[in-house]
This record gives sequence, structure tokens and C-alpha cells, in this order.
Amino acid sequence: MKPNILVTGGAGYIGSVTVERLLEAGYGVVILDDLSKGHKSAIPDGCRFVEGNIGDTKLVEEALRKNSIDSVIHFAAMSLVGESMERSGDYYSNNVVAGIRLLEAMDATGVRKIVFSSSAGVYGEPETIPISETNRTEPVNVYGDTKLIFERVLSWQSERTALGHISLRYFNAAGASERYGEDHRPESHLIPIALQAAAGKRPELTVFGGDYETPDGTCIRDYIDVRDLADAHIAALAALDAGRSGVYNLGNGEGWSVLNVIEFAEEVTGLTIPRKMGARRAGDPARLVASSSLAESELGWTPRHPELRDMIEAAWKWLKNYPDGYPD
Ligand code: UFG
Repeated sequence: MKPNILVTGGAGYIGSVTVERLLEAGYGVVILDDLSKGHKSAIPDGCRFVEGNIGDTKLVEEALRKNSIDSVIHFAAMSLVGESMERSGDYYSNNVVAGIRLLEAMDATGVRKIVFSSSAGVYGEPETIPISETNRTEPVNVYGDTKLIFERVLSWQSERTALGHISLRYFNAAGASERYGEDHRPESHLIPIALQAAAGKRPELTVFGGDYETPDGTCIRDYIDVRDLADAHIAALAALDAGRSGVYNLGNGEGWSVLNVIEFAEEVTGLTIPRKMGARRAGDPARLVASSSLAESELGWTPRHPELRDMIEAAWKWLKNYPDGYPD
């Protein structure tokens, strides 16, 4: 019997797919989610659900104690680059201050292992591509800054409390499992927007900037299948058990421009995606491509779905099954 894991933000996009994998792997799962972004119907049968915020120390302590939690996987956060530039205070309070409350509750209840959802956003404009974990970290948006600060909080906390901590720096999550997919409200991510535009659910897609220093002038990202991200969390739990702490990039090592993504989405759907060229979005680095060799060598993780076309296909299938997203 595998131990019990508290998953904060387990009703969100990456959280729900990870919970599904944890249950398949035999872990006991307790989801803590305030449903500010997550969906009740993204919570699988077979796990416990506590509705609340990570900053509510009393509630979190009770959830940790009552359920004999062994480790925490911490997804709950505000995670939109554009929004973070408008609402910086909310990002620091939710992603940093409330996160510290979560660590306090863990400390008080003797829970000493955490997997943290960090982000490629910690690097800012990278010095070299592909980006390795030793690259300079100079975020160019508030979201990335909150993730970098919390990585440091974890590191300092571990000095005092022997906390085992693994920060996973996700590049761009994409795709879906059969049952769980991407449903942000409002949606701001490129792939679901492209697919919604293909399906006629929105009039068009705006390309945010065509004057970047990239071959076609649009931003380049490294897309990683959400099911592969879920696998990485399982690998991280095993690494924590083996006494490892650290920071790992999770990507495919391949960069695709905004226009490439639109082309793939047109191929997958067989539909035309109406688009217009717009201004740059604040806080967007030109190019983010990962080296994930450290995760491969130290966590034993290898992406099983490295093809962008497969991710878009999975997202398209999910959209067709859930044309209006989750029912709640
Ligand atoms: N984009 C458009 N039009 C849109 C939406 C997005 O042109 O309507 C562009 C963006 O400007 C960016 C690219 O598509 O260049 C990808 O944008 P997303 O919003 O899909 O994703 P981001 O790269 O902004 O951010 C995502 C996650 C972050 C994470 C980051 C890591 O939301 O949490 O990937 O690379 F930090």
C-alpha cells in the first residue's frame, strides 16, 4: 500500500491529471483546492476532497493530520503570465505568502516532503538554449518571480526543518488524458484557444507579437504533455523517498513557435483557424526551450508523449468530448 499524498490544486489542469496517475499507481490522495480555478468535476472518484485555501493553516494542519499524509504535491497557485503583470499583489500573496502558511502547517504536523510546481518562468530571457537548471534565473514577469521566490523559501526551510523538496520547472503544459483536460476560465493558453477558434467557439486567435527575434517572429515554447508531467511527479515522490532534493526542468527540448502551433492545430482538426497579428503580451520571453537531462538522469523520467501533434490531438479529443469544458 502506497502512502497518502496531499495534492493542493488537485482540481486544476495539471493537478487533476496527476491525481489520476497517483490513484492508478496506488497512492491514497487527498485534494485540497479552493475551487477558485479548479473544477469539482475534475476530482476523480477514489480520493478525498477538502475545499479550502493553502493559506488556511488550521484547515491544512487538520487535513495533514487526519489523513496521515506522507508528502505534499503543491500545485495550487495563480499561474497566468499576463495576469501576473496586472495583479502582482495577488500573485505574491497567493503564490508566496499562502505557500509559506502551507509549509508552516507541514512543519507543525511533521510532514517533511514536498514536490513543488515551479516554472520555466523562473529563467526570464535565457542566456543559452536549451536551458539547463544552472542557467541564470532572472524572471521577466511577476508569475516567474513568485515561483523563484518560493523555490528559495523551500531551500531555506529545508536548512531549518530537514524538508525534502523537489521543484519541477514545467515548460508549457499541453494535451489531456482521456478524462481530464484544460479548462481555464477565461482561457488564455495558446493551444486551447487555437482549438476553440478552430471549433468556431471564438471568432479568432490573436498572435501576440510577430516581431520577436525568432525565425518567424513569434514566440517559441517547449510543449510538454500533461501526462508526462504527471509521471514526473510520481518519479519525484520516489526521489524524495530516496533522500533527494533539487530543481528539475521538464520539457521536450524542442521549440515550437506560435505559428507552428497554429499550423499543427489546423492539421489535427482539419479546420482553418482564423487569426490576426496583435501586439506583444507583457512579460513574454521570446524563446523557452528546456534541457531535461537532469530529470532524465536523476529522476529516471522520460517523456512518453514527446510529439506536439499528439498533445494537440489529445487536447482536441478532450474538447470534442467536453465542448463546453467541465460542467461546473
Ligand atoms: N499566445 C498567443 N495568443 C494567445 C495566447 C498565447 O500568441 O491567444 C502566445 C503567447 O504570447 C506565448 C505562447 O503563445 O508566446 C504561449 O502562451 P501561453 O499563454 O499558452 O503560455 P505561456 O508561455 O505564457 O505560459 C505557460 C504557463 C506558465 C508557464 C510557462 C512556461 O501558463 O505557467 O508556460 O513556459 F510558466
